Amino acid sequence: MKIDLTLNGEAVTLQAARSDSLLDLLRQSGYTGAKRGCNTGDCGFCTVIVDGEPIKSCIEPAIRIDGSDVETIESLGTQDDLHPIQAAFVDNAALQCGFCIPGMIMRTKGLLETNPDPDEAEIRDALSGNLCRCTGYEKILDAVADAADRVAGETDVAADGGRIPNGQSCTGCDCYPGGEDQ
Ligand code: FES
Ligand code: FES
Repeated sequence: MKIDLTLNGEAVTLQAARSDSLLDLLRQSGYTGAKRGCNTGDCGFCTVIVDGEPIKSCIEPAIRIDGSDVETIESLGTQDDLHPIQAAFVDNAALQCGFCIPGMIMRTKGLLETNPDPDEAEIRDALSGNLCRCTGYEKILDAVADAADRVAGETDVAADGGRIPNGQSCTGCDCYPGGEDQ
């Protein structure tokens, strides 16, 4: 069946099977930024924004997206020009394997669009459905608070564009064996 939607600001028509989730639809259409962790609505790795609300796309039927406005991590910055939220995660060392981070960032974007100056309790509450197996969360909380300042224009974005240092790589580390290829 055909699904008409606005995806990252562009009107598109995508093909879906009746049983597809929104995550299936996105990933099979080449939008692999949203990750598949649990596939049962428990980890938040697949978080995208639909009509202004962060949702877990693995448990959202694709058919319900017809006519919706969907934002994925692909709508944000590039390696050379990071979005302020991405830059805050990089500069606060808030990621290790990185598999949870697209979901964390989209959840943060949704939070800051409704609450531009969240306190720690509000950040913890907003991120309570997004799990991370690596970081221990404290740096993620720091990154979200920093991101709020950056989005408000109070702090510069990452000066280095968030590049991986020379000679280092984060591919092939097998630190999230339950997930798909990134
Ligand atoms: S993959 Fe969707 S919540 Fe875990
Ligand atoms: S950085 Fe969060 S799961 Fe690895």
